[in-house]
Amino acid sequence: MTTVAVILAAGLGTRMKSSVPKVLHPVLGDPSLLWVLRSLPPSISAAVLVLHHGKAQVEAAVAQWQALKLLPCPVHTVDQDLPLGTGHAVQQAVPELERLAPKQVVILCGDVPLLTEASVARLGAKEACILAMDLEDPAGYGRVLQRADGSLQGIVEKKDASAEELRVRRVNGGAYSLPWSALKPALAGLSNANAQREYYLTDAVAAVAARLPVQVELCNPSELLGMNSRLDQAELQSLAQHRINAHWMEAGVTMLAPETTVIGPRVTLAPDVLLEPGVRLEGRVEVGEGTQIGQGCVFRDCVLGSSVEVRPYCIGQNASIGNGAKVGPFAHLREGTVLEEKVHMGNFVETKKAHLHAGAKANHLSYLGDCEIGERTNIGAGFITCNYDGYRKHRTVIGKDVFVGSDCQAVAPVTLGDGCVTAAGTTITSDIPAQALALSRVPQVNKEGAAERMRAKRKGSMG
Ligand code: UD1
Ligand code: CA
Repeated sequence: MTTVAVILAAGLGTRMKSSVPKVLHPVLGDPSLLWVLRSLPPSISAAVLVLHHGKAQVEAAVAQWQALKLLPCPVHTVDQDLPLGTGHAVQQAVPELERLAPKQVVILCGDVPLLTEASVARLGAKEACILAMDLEDPAGYGRVLQRADGSLQGIVEKKDASAEELRVRRVNGGAYSLPWSALKPALAGLSNANAQREYYLTDAVAAVAARLPVQVELCNPSELLGMNSRLDQAELQSLAQHRINAHWMEAGVTMLAPETTVIGPRVTLAPDVLLEPGVRLEGRVEVGEGTQIGQGCVFRDCVLGSSVEVRPYCIGQNASIGNGAKVGPFAHLREGTVLEEKVHMGNFVETKKAHLHAGAKANHLSYLGDCEIGERTNIGAGFITCNYDGYRKHRTVIGKDVFVGSDCQAVAPVTLGDGCVTAAGTTITSDIPAQALALSRVPQVNKEGAAERMRAKRKGSMG
């Protein structure tokens, strides 16, 4: 059986007060729409996105997710040039659905990010079903009307509801599974004769319900909350944070202050990981067994091995840290940083496209850019790779077992051979052969008694 998902995402999202399309606003680092697409179970073979506002931006994001292999199925887009309602939105997907010829259509909203894959799978497995929730305050949601046998009779929008219907607390979650053969004629028959002059998808669902029984499946309201405002976004983040943190704590992760720990949906943590307060992990992050991440660290798209010790206040992006490495405090690992096993990287060290091999050390105050640093090499305090000449980037290649003295600079492109030593303060402008000692210093001069004479002269000039 082919099932295709239609995802509604053409709305402007006026209440977000933003130039960014609503469905691209993030929840724990991933845009709402990415959450929805990733929730599609393997039983769904393709998705059709209905877009309009910010269409180019959304399409660019989808192409990027596709390239990163984040999407479970092919995604097609269609344009809804006028926002005439949810039914009108699905009508725009009809030609694409005709082409894909599904048996079953699952309809979801791009701004409802926390619906789980399990719930979507459960919904898609039903021949005709809607997800509903029971709310204390049914607010602006459509009211669900059921027959005596529990099947769906219809859905009434708040603005069209009678006083009696307004009291119904069971509301429409906006997620549906319907047979294409019944949905198609129902969409063709829609009118906009209602309070909002919109083509309501809910009317099409009611038309299907007139032909065959449509089940009403209750769902946890926390899965169906939509993102319509920044307040909704904050609530969604805190719901997701609670769900994700509970999952990892159950899997053996310690969080010293879970309410301050922010872990995105694509993060994986091994048992005995310890997260200190204020840690934020976003994008695709993997953390190995027994690794400790200190207070205030932020990692995005990083791989951390096992038994790594990251001290407080480190930042990493597109970096990997090998088993048993020690990093920080206050280290900045920028894109393309690779730290192999047992590397030590201390405070105020910034790396970019830097590959440090096993056991290399850079413990204090360095910039390591576009460089390779061999096994066991020790980088002294204050070493800088001068990798940029104002036009181009150049590489520094440092061999193994090298000792780079404090306060050296490597003016790239330059190579330091295995086992060489550079004297403190050396500006390295040409290649150093293996095992050589390099030094570039002005010889020191000591003038006996000159310090005293200098002080006397300065005192005298103060009058
Ligand atoms: C809709 C349902 C309501 C349900 C609620 C759940 C209808 C008529 N009403 O309410 O019963 O309780 O969802 O959240 O369907 N969209 C488009 N094009 C449009 C209009 C909307 O793509 O022309 C998209 C929006 O971007 C959004 C989704 O459809 O992702 C739902 O639209 P929204 O306006 O939030 O829902 P309501 O119509 O208020
Ligand atoms: Ca609406």
